[in-house]
Amino acid sequence: MTSAAASVSPPDNTQPNTEDPDALVLELQRELAEASPMRIIDRALERFGDELAISFSGAEDVLLIEYAKETGRRFRVFSLDTGRLHPETYRYFAEVERHYGIRIEYRFPDTVAVERLVRDKGMFSFLTDGHRECCQIRKVAPLRRQLATLRAWVTGQRRDQSPGTRSALPVVQRDAHPGRDGGPLLKFNPLAARSSADVWDAIRAFEVPFNPLHSRGMISIGCEPCTRAVLPGQHEREGRWWWEDAAKKECGLHVKSG
Ligand code: ADX
Ligand code: SF4
Repeated sequence: MTSAAASVSPPDNTQPNTEDPDALVLELQRELAEASPMRIIDRALERFGDELAISFSGAEDVLLIEYAKETGRRFRVFSLDTGRLHPETYRYFAEVERHYGIRIEYRFPDTVAVERLVRDKGMFSFLTDGHRECCQIRKVAPLRRQLATLRAWVTGQRRDQSPGTRSALPVVQRDAHPGRDGGPLLKFNPLAARSSADVWDAIRAFEVPFNPLHSRGMISIGCEPCTRAVLPGQHEREGRWWWEDAAKKECGLHVKSG
């Protein structure tokens, strides 16, 4: 669903989908490497219009929505409802919808796949089997269905979120997931070069509503059984899947292309 935010200029959808995606990525990387997050989102919306959507997890990535609103362009937002999010996150989604006058496009997991997993292995299989199988069913498969409608998406990933896996994250990249009609997909990471402190300065400056779980020591927020508060000095990623090795702390939403 498209946001109700004012549309200053129509999306530029006139360009054919035949260009070399790798050349386009290089061109955009050159142009946007030092650009502000808002400029990156503005350029992404200008270039891809309704064929691009912002992925919103219900955490600090709300800032992407604030910047998209500030561009004055129409924009789309989607969230993956795994069925295991915190009650606070569901209420927060509704608050964000009200605040920005938008409807979030929710994606749900395949019922049969979830039923099979839970009947076979119980509600907490990830604690013994690792999180990949459950994340694949509840997050990755729904994400891939969403991405199959798009030519580009926007994420709230940052380099400082996960030194092991995100330290070289570019502001724009070719995604390994297929896009619309199985075609190439671009991924914009407008906050890539920003720190956690930068993001919180902006959230406060723009008076953006935030998930109340952040006030309870949670920084990185995912599903309720797989997220916990961190202690002072602990890295935010230590609050996710804490029973697993740091190197495995990616759920498969973000995969390297190539
Ligand atoms: S994860 O891979 O470990 O789950 P993380 O929580 O760091 O990801 O979030 C990074 C970015 O991935 C978010 O800013 C958002 O763009 C996207 N993302 C993560 N979870 C979701 C979700 N449930 N719905 C939509 N986007 C999500
Ligand atoms: Fe399942 Fe945990 Fe992954 Fe959520 S984060 S999909 S509950 S393993």
